[in-house]
This record gives sequence, C-alpha cells and structure tokens, in this order.
Amino acid sequence: MGRLVIISNRAPSVDGSGDSGGLVVALKDALAKDGGLWIGGAPKQTDAPSPSLIFHHRQDFDIGLFELEPKLYRDYYLGYSNSVLWPALHGRVDLIDVQPCYAAAYREVAGRLARLIAETVRDDDLIWVHDYQLIPLAHELKALGVKSRIGFFLHIPLPDLQTFKAIPDWRDLARWLADYDLIGFQTRRDLGHMINIFRHTLRGELRSNGNMGIAGREVALGCFPISINVDGFRRLAAEGAVNTPAPSLPRLIGVDRLDYSKGLPQRLVGYQKFLESHAAFHGKVSLLQIAPPTRDDVDAYKAIRTELEHLAGHINGRFGTVDWTPVQYIHRALPRDELAVLFRLSRVGLVTPLFDGMNLVAKEYVAAQDAADPGVLVLSQFAGAAEEMPEALIVNPHDPQDIAQAISTALEMPLGERIERHDALYSHLQDHDVDHWCAAFLKRLVSVERLDVDGVAR
Ligand code: ADP
Ligand code: F6P
Repeated sequence: MGRLVIISNRAPSVDGSGDSGGLVVALKDALAKDGGLWIGGAPKQTDAPSPSLIFHHRQDFDIGLFELEPKLYRDYYLGYSNSVLWPALHGRVDLIDVQPCYAAAYREVAGRLARLIAETVRDDDLIWVHDYQLIPLAHELKALGVKSRIGFFLHIPLPDLQTFKAIPDWRDLARWLADYDLIGFQTRRDLGHMINIFRHTLRGELRSNGNMGIAGREVALGCFPISINVDGFRRLAAEGAVNTPAPSLPRLIGVDRLDYSKGLPQRLVGYQKFLESHAAFHGKVSLLQIAPPTRDDVDAYKAIRTELEHLAGHINGRFGTVDWTPVQYIHRALPRDELAVLFRLSRVGLVTPLFDGMNLVAKEYVAAQDAADPGVLVLSQFAGAAEEMPEALIVNPHDPQDIAQAISTALEMPLGERIERHDALYSHLQDHDVDHWCAAFLKRLVSVERLDVDGVAR
C-alpha cells in the first residue's frame, strides 16, 4: 500500500499553528498518526503561480501547496464554492449568486489541480478528497489516467433533491460525485439525500451491500460522522484549567466561524428572550461569543457580521449595567489551548446552527468538561452532531423561546442530571474519536471492490 494523499482546498499551516475550521482541525490529528501527504491551497495567491506543487516537510506529514492567481481564486473560492455551493448545500438558496465565471473557475481549478496531482501520485496511493470545493477532482484525475482509489468526504450537509436542483450545474455535480470509489457523509440524513439524488439524476440503483449501481459501475456510499481527538482535547482543557481562575459569573459560551449557517443572530435573540423572562439572572450570567472572521469578502458574510454586532450592542445597551456586560463578543481566532479552557470553565455550551454538516464545537465542548462538575450542551436539531448526541438539550434554533427555555434548564440543571448526560455523551465520543472516523473511512475505501454493474472487476 502506498501513501495516504489528502486533498483539500485549505491546507494546514506549514508551521502547525493557528488552524481553525472543522476540516483542518480534524484531519491534522488523523494524518499526524501515520504520516502521508496533504495537498491543499497556498494561503496567498500570486499573479505568477508556481507551475508545480510546492512541498514542505512537517514533522508529522508532508504538505504540497498549490497556488492560484487572485482572480481565479476569487471566482473559485469566494464565488462558486462559497456563493453557490455553500449556500445551496446549507439550504439557503436565497443567497445563491450565480455567475458564469464562477462555474468556469471551479472546473478550471479542479482540472489544474488534477494535472499537478497526477504528476505526483502512484497507483498504489490512496487518494482522499475533502469537501465541496473539489467535487470534480475524481472525474478530472480519471480522465488523466490516474488509477489510484479515490474517496470523497463531504464535511457539510447534502440537502434534499429539490434544494440540490437549485444549483444550475446540479447534473454535473451528481455525475462528478459518481466518479468516486467511495463517498462519505456526516449523517444518515445526508446519505439518504445522496441516494435519492443519484436515483433521480443518474438512474442509480441501490444494491443490497449499500452501494449504488450507476452508469455501468458501482459506487460505495457510507455514513462516517467526523470527530475530534477526544483525549487530547480533554487533557488540554484539564491541564490549562489548573492555573486559570474560574469566571466570576456562570458563563454561556459560543464558538463559531462568523457564518450565517451558525445561527448566531437567532442565538442572541434566544438569549435576549431568556434575559427578558428571567430577571433573577440579570447580573448573574454572561454569554461569551467567539466568532472569528471567515470569507468576509462575500456580501452575505458582511451582512451577518453587522447583524450580530448590532444585536450584541442592543442587548448590552438594554440590559447591561456599569458592573455587568451580558454579551462579550470576540471577533478573532484564539489558540486551541485557550479555547479548551474556556469551554471547560463555561456552564453552558451553545451550539445552535441552522444547518451544519457535523459541528465539532459540540464535541469539543463535551470533551473539555470536568466529569465531576460538567457543563450542559445546548445543541441544534439541525447540526449533524444531534444524530449522535441525544443527551444534549436539543433545540430548534429558529425558535427563540426554545433557546431561552434550554438556557434556563441548563443553568438550573441539578448536578446528578448533568453528570448523567455528560457521561453518556463522553463515553460515545471516546468510542468515536477522530481516529475511529479516519480508520472507518479508509478501511472501507481500501475494501471497496471496483466492480462494474455486471460484477466484473475493473
Ligand atoms: P466549521 O467546519 O463549519 O468551521 P466546526 O464546528 O465543525 O465548524 O469546526 C470549527 C473548528 O474551528 C473547531 O475545531 C473550533 O474549535 C475551531 N474554531 C472555531 N472558532 C474558533 C476560534 N475563534 N478560535 C480558534 N478555533 C476556532
Ligand atoms: O468544515 C467545512 C468547511 O467549509 C471546510 O471545508 C473549511 O475548511 C472550513 O469549513 C472553514 O472554511 P474556510 O476553509 O472557507 O475558511
């Protein structure tokens, strides 16, 4: 067996510091274990991109960076990936911005990247492509004669067929997906949507082994919920907390990229409702929202920032006193060890996305808790994590009353119930950490039988 070659739009940093975003955080831990090569986009674009991959050797794995010129990068990343696919796959078809140059750039980047990869991979390498930015890659690699097995993992949700069809190129996307040997999803919800899309678009037929027969070949599908380094994160939190004073007031915490899918305004409105109906908590609780910038050249992201800052100011103006700030808002990324301690020292974790592939913050919050006096996780029913974490307080993020009620239930929950819920959540996480996720996907990819629909090996 050759190397594991991971390919994603975003690469980890060359010096190993300052990575945020679920994909990089999860895969860094997974790849560090056995080593391999990670191919991803360079952090800076240049007018004269290097004609080949630029390699860096890290202690834990190698990185191969590809460079793009600024206009191509904008149209591919801010444009097609994050103004068409991201909103559509998160069910926000109202935010889709269709421009012909976006779709062209998306295909151009996949084609260019495939040529760079084809020069460096061997047939026995295992190629694992990540996320919506690079869906056409298997198609392009196969057109260049690459024989390696190629798996794909979708980190974000796959919506139902009708929503998927709002993407002008939905037929192409379905065909490109069908070129992978294995496609992995976060949840059974997303897997079900894929089966339906393949049936409808490509006359796919579900087989008894769970694979689909499509256009003369078999494509394997599976549900592989992503996770975190549970023990590592728990240790980080526990060790850091030793020298950190507890906050003066019980704290609620939210940690999310400032993305409209994360339900941040709805969360603040829920908190406001809570303050309206629970005067006894005035001056006795605070909400810390950490929301680093992301994709802030896209209009919808500028709008969400303005809305969030307006709401935080409004709540502080309305309820705050000289001695009490109800909402603390930080608009930047923090080091992971600091984040772990903040989670541990917060009584309630608020994870209330409107739609989310998984949401690793939910898992990090649980992993960071002190098992003898754990905090309570409030979790959206629309986060992929809700399929695995029923012992959290599950809420409808669109309903401010529901969020307000869950905050009050969490703050008043007796120790015995907190421990019971935390034990159940933590023990599930321990058995399903990031190594488990990675091993399960790769085991399936290695074992996929490459058959055509008549059962003949390809
Ligand atoms: P997404 O992939 O959509 O960003 P996830 O919740 O799955 O959402 O993953 C986000 C990851 O980024 C988590 O590991 C989280 O701890 C990290 N992260 C989010 N916000 C920050 C921040 N302000 N500082 C550092 N890391 C952050
Ligand atoms: O986890 C979903 C995801 O879109 C990843 O593909 C991405 O790396 C992460 O969120 C952060 O987004 P971005 O790379 O656009 O900053």
